[in-house]
Amino acid sequence: MLLKNFKDNVIETKNLDFKTIIQDVSFEIRRGDYAAIIGPNGGGKSTLVKLILGLIPHDNGVIKLFGQAPSLGSLKKIGYVSQGIAKLDENFPISVHEVIKLGLIANKSLFSRITKNDLARIDHVLTKMNIQDLKDAKISELSGGQRQRVMIAKALVNQPQILILDEPNTGVDKQSQINFYALLKDLNHNENITILFITHDLGVIVDDINKVLCINQTLLACHDPRQIYHSEQLNQLYGVDAHMVCHHH
Ligand SMILES: Nc1ncnc2c1ncn2[C@@H]1O[C@H](COP(=O)(O)OP(=O)(O)OP(=O)(O)O)[C@@H](O)[C@H]1O
Ligand SMILES: [Mg+2]
Repeated sequence: MLLKNFKDNVIETKNLDFKTIIQDVSFEIRRGDYAAIIGPNGGGKSTLVKLILGLIPHDNGVIKLFGQAPSLGSLKKIGYVSQGIAKLDENFPISVHEVIKLGLIANKSLFSRITKNDLARIDHVLTKMNIQDLKDAKISELSGGQRQRVMIAKALVNQPQILILDEPNTGVDKQSQINFYALLKDLNHNENITILFITHDLGVIVDDINKVLCINQTLLACHDPRQIYHSEQLNQLYGVDAHMVCHHH
């Protein structure tokens, strides 16, 4: 068996504290992991992700990205889709293509131009998210589900090594959800993107993921998803509203 060294940890926290919301949270995400974060409403899931991304400063503890202290360089390797993002920008007169271009520009140095290669990357994510036909549409004209796909395309356009998604599926219809989970699986398996995914829909992806972090102020458990079978068990343990579909016997 190959011995993995610390560099295989792409995200690492040790004894992380933030006010009373996050207490003594330590965990590791390894390159290639597809990990789900679950927990009750108000349990601190979104806060934990914002701490990892440096969007809010932590009080105590250590955060490492790619084995090192977080830096602009390491943050550029992470794509993030925040919670409720699809509700934003409702009246903003900007097209799908422009939104994704903004994602690219955010990671470029000042004054650098959009290159042919950049435009090809935009086309690639438009195709990947199946929104080519919407590229000239205004964000305000899109449905919630379509807008979510645009935001994921925006996160993907910088070819991140890690994709962090905060409940991107809320209010999306069943078929779009199925397509979405297939996409995440494809990104994880075929493009080797590490995925950290906050969800209340654990059951649907339980066969795809390899780690489940249960967060309620502190890290209650880090499971192998194959050991979690029943929603009742989850509910009892964590008060989690996770819609489990049991695939195992
Ligand atoms: N920057 C902040 N400063 C102080 N309190 C905060 C901050 N951000 C969030 N909170 C509070 O922290 C708690 C956890 O919020 P958080 O959004 O992380 O929960 P969550 O697990 O993502 O919940 P949900 O499942 O509803 O999205 C809430 O009580 C919230 O009001
Ligand atoms: Mg949240």
